[in-house]
Amino acid sequence: VNITFLTGGYEMAYTDVAFKFKKLGKNVRIGRNVYFRHPHLIEIGNNVIIDDFTYFTTRVTIGNNVHIAPFVSSIGGSSSELFIGSYCSIAAGVRFVCLSDNFRSSALTNPTIPEGFRDDGDRLRSIVVEKHVIIGTNSVVLPGAHLCEGASIGAMSLVKGTVEPWSLCVGNPLRKLDTRDGEKIREAEKRYEEYINGQHME
Ligand SMILES: CC(C)(COP(=O)(O)OP(=O)(O)OC[C@H]1O[C@@H](n2cnc3c(N)ncnc32)[C@H](O)[C@@H]1OP(=O)(O)O)[C@@H](O)C(=O)NCCC(=O)NCCS
Repeated sequence: VNITFLTGGYEMAYTDVAFKFKKLGKNVRIGRNVYFRHPHLIEIGNNVIIDDFTYFTTRVTIGNNVHIAPFVSSIGGSSSELFIGSYCSIAAGVRFVCLSDNFRSSALTNPTIPEGFRDDGDRLRSIVVEKHVIIGTNSVVLPGAHLCEGASIGAMSLVKGTVEPWSLCVGNPLRKLDTRDGEKIREAEKRYEEYINGQHME
């Protein structure tokens, strides 16, 4: 049978934490059915939960105290990147499209076509999700999106471009509904970190 594995020889059918991640912090819980196509390009901080059926084909950097619920995907391959800052919550089914074919292009599209026949204009894209961001279920985040600190996104929203800090935004097209209290969230983070550091001193 003429099949080549996408990873070029090795395949991780389910999560094997002994596999060589670039960085893996403490107290990280990953469902057995989470898939990383490029484990050596994955950096995960401390206190992270990644639920089952989550699927990453991109480079991924995740901070501390992050929850990624089931069925989240990060798509775009190893030349694209997803950054998720600390204290973020990514609800079930969120799709990060880190790299996309150019939908306006007159060239051929999709990864079966060699470079040169495709439109390379849209290479090396990333999605940046700063600290304290919360993304509602089944939202779609497009290439180049930048969710600034504390941005909060309602369920089933379409996110592109820059989302301003501490804003609650919903829908397609995305519209601002409210503002979160960033000062209070930062204070809560400080109190929590003091508590955790105090525990470690005992
Ligand atoms: C965004 C959200 C928090 C707003 O909740 P709320 O404060 O109770 O707001 P309301 O239901 O009063 O809605 C306010 C307005 O926003 C609209 N709206 C709310 N959520 C929306 C969404 N996800 N997409 C589009 N519009 C939305 C409402 O229709 C309403 O519009 P109107 O003022 O024109 O009538 C909530 O609707 C939501 O999407 N939560 C995400 C939950 C989730 O995915 N959780 C994952 C597990 S943690």
